[in-house]
Amino acid sequence: MKRDFISILDISPDELNLLIKTAECLKKERKEEIFRRDLANKALGMIFEKSSTRTRISFEVGIQELGGFALFLNPDDMQLGRGEEIPDTARVLSRFLSVVMMRVFSHQTVVDFALHASIPVINGLSDQEHPCQILADILTITEYCGTTQGKKVAFIGDGNNVCNSLLLSSSMTGMDVTVASPPDYCPGVSILKKAREIGGNVRVIHDPREAVSGAEVVITDTWVSMGDENETEKRMAAFSSFSLTPELLSYASPQAIVMHCLPAHRGREITNEVIDGERSVVWDEAENRLHVQKALMLLLSGAISVS
Ligand code: CP
Ligand code: NVA
Repeated sequence: MKRDFISILDISPDELNLLIKTAECLKKERKEEIFRRDLANKALGMIFEKSSTRTRISFEVGIQELGGFALFLNPDDMQLGRGEEIPDTARVLSRFLSVVMMRVFSHQTVVDFALHASIPVINGLSDQEHPCQILADILTITEYCGTTQGKKVAFIGDGNNVCNSLLLSSSMTGMDVTVASPPDYCPGVSILKKAREIGGNVRVIHDPREAVSGAEVVITDTWVSMGDENETEKRMAAFSSFSLTPELLSYASPQAIVMHCLPAHRGREITNEVIDGERSVVWDEAENRLHVQKALMLLLSGAISVS
């Protein structure tokens, strides 16, 4: 049975643990210039409907370091752009490639593609989730805090794809997640319901200070995700009091780490003082995309598994 990674919930808690341990190991080996070749000659197709720096480069470097290679596929240059259907494209690409990673506007596109593909499909960001980012965040929190269990995490800003994957991860990581969003931009009710049903410790409030109070991890993200650009003006007004400033951060635990999936909009969701400050771990967080995604490709290809 092929495995997909479309939601953070597509892996079990034991598999999450394995991914984090493997990523730590791969990170250490890379520093020593030791590279496993488990995916020798395997082709990763990368379909991007939207822009990317980190996802594209970390996946491309990652598959290459495992012995395989990547193909960057712009849907507009493929027959997809002329109306060839997702299911047919999925069937055909499955005959050439070993794994596909897709960044899409609509979550349904990656779901449909995976349904008709006979190879593993990875969600490299959709309007609903960004599960690869949350894997990197879990690795980063583990590195800095020793564990994710019982950690108090505040997510400040838009109830977006990154926020959704974080909420859904709560039951697996044991993190206590508080989201502070303006009333019109809270995470969806169905995500919260799901996160709670599976045992997540999650809550949504509207006061960023209350959310940050005592937090050990403070996370923010853009106020205007890709696809939301036509709402920019409205969003700037709604989010103006949700900026991660030194004043807001002063409510957090003195050891708190600050995270942002990047790209950052300095002066909007995060100030220069905070992103460049001593609590910020955003560059390690970005690097960790590489290590966790290498581990993820090993898991989905069957090169590693929980015993
Ligand atoms: N964080 C993240 O996914 O970055 P990119 O949009 O650059 O891939
Ligand atoms: N929430 C952002 C993440 C970018 C990596 C977006 O979807 O644009």
